[in-house]
Amino acid sequence: MRISVIGCGYLGAVHAAALATLGHDVVGVDVDPVKLAALRRGEAPFFEPGLPELLVEAGATGRLTFTDDISAVRGARVHFITVGTPQLKGSNAADLRYVDAAFDQLLPQLSAGDVVVGKSTVPVGTAARLAAKVADGGSGAVLAWNPEFLREGFAVKDSLTPDRLVFGLPPRPEAASTAETALREVYAAALADDTPLVLTDYATAELVKVSANAFLATKISFINAMAEIAETTGADVTQLADAIGFDGRIGRRFLGAGVGFGGGCLPKDIRGFMARAEELGRGESVAFLKEVDAINLRRRAKVVDHVVDLLDHEPYGKTVAVLGLAFKPHSDDVRDSPALDVAVRLTGLGARVRATDPEAIANARALHPQLDYRASFEEAVAGADVMVLVTEWDQYRYLDPDAVAPLVAARNVVDGRNSYDPARWRAAGWTYRGLGRP
Ligand code: UGA
Repeated sequence: MRISVIGCGYLGAVHAAALATLGHDVVGVDVDPVKLAALRRGEAPFFEPGLPELLVEAGATGRLTFTDDISAVRGARVHFITVGTPQLKGSNAADLRYVDAAFDQLLPQLSAGDVVVGKSTVPVGTAARLAAKVADGGSGAVLAWNPEFLREGFAVKDSLTPDRLVFGLPPRPEAASTAETALREVYAAALADDTPLVLTDYATAELVKVSANAFLATKISFINAMAEIAETTGADVTQLADAIGFDGRIGRRFLGAGVGFGGGCLPKDIRGFMARAEELGRGESVAFLKEVDAINLRRRAKVVDHVVDLLDHEPYGKTVAVLGLAFKPHSDDVRDSPALDVAVRLTGLGARVRATDPEAIANARALHPQLDYRASFEEAVAGADVMVLVTEWDQYRYLDPDAVAPLVAARNVVDGRNSYDPARWRAAGWTYRGLGRP
């Protein structure tokens, strides 16, 4: 099938390449010439494991092209909208300008029978508003909403073999049938593999996405709240998580206590959800998300407190090695990254922060050029008074405390991801601080 993908960021680039390898004929559209040039060369414009290989594989089929010319979408039967919906400056709400711009550009290109498919995370009610726009355009195209659940770092796998599909279909049966038929064809491979499919309306599809992210954020903040209680009572939150996680109804995943969640999705999605619920007069229904957000941000402050404590409350001029800048491993994304935030806060306290990350330094530098970045782990920890782990890349996670000891000035470690075995680090002479662990 001929498909267009509008917006070639973390979501769209992977989606376009995955669809091409599945046999579709795909054109990706974006406004960023640097990104387009990389994609045309078959290079990933950001770090995503497996994406370079996928782009090469898709490129070799001759079925994947990239352009800034919106008219190239003509002739495609399905048009995916995969642009970003960041947090609006000075507000909790989502900024829909890129979604609206994409629709405005797309509308004149549409023909009868075309299916526009929204994938961006949007406030509930957006699809209905955009469907009216599509109808007013008079092309005879229809709109569906098909939220995306891919995780950065696993985006290729999640795109090729999603764990579920959700099709939010238009209210009119004829339009719904057009959209469903097209989407079934797009995802024929996944559906043949018995991927669960939920056929629903726009509002449910939009809410599935934000409620999934709100649930994940709540789960993380729940365990981080338990970490706070553990810190006051001498309990160990990692053991607590193991023990409650054995209950199949609870499950151990996303019970990793630490410096908390970040990224381009969870933080802004819970805030956007609160803002939309307020607009709908249902603010109280998700008021708990304010606590989820607050608990999450308190954990960053706690990591900084640990460092300051280990520096005898005199951080000024002390050397602090910050391991990690990305919001999580296997990603170069620093949007709302707890790791970067910790580095910035410590620098603000006058510490000589040396921050490192295997993939995210360039993105971090673009946001915070004032920080001192070190390309290698060895350079970052050399002469450090405290070492802080904030993004659990394997190369930091599996450090040997005996091997690191001669590199630092003082054996102080703050384990912002509860990745280390405290007994092992203490036995090697380190003063160890985790989150929610004695
Ligand atoms: C998240 C969702 O997991 C995806 O399903 C969704 O599609 C995506 O947002 C999106 O809306 O596009 P992602 O932002 O890639 O995916 O990252 P996650 O793997 O969810 O991690 C989010 C944050 O939570 C990271 O900072 C991670 O370090 C943190 N986290 C995760 C914890 O602090 N503890 C945990 O136990 C798990």
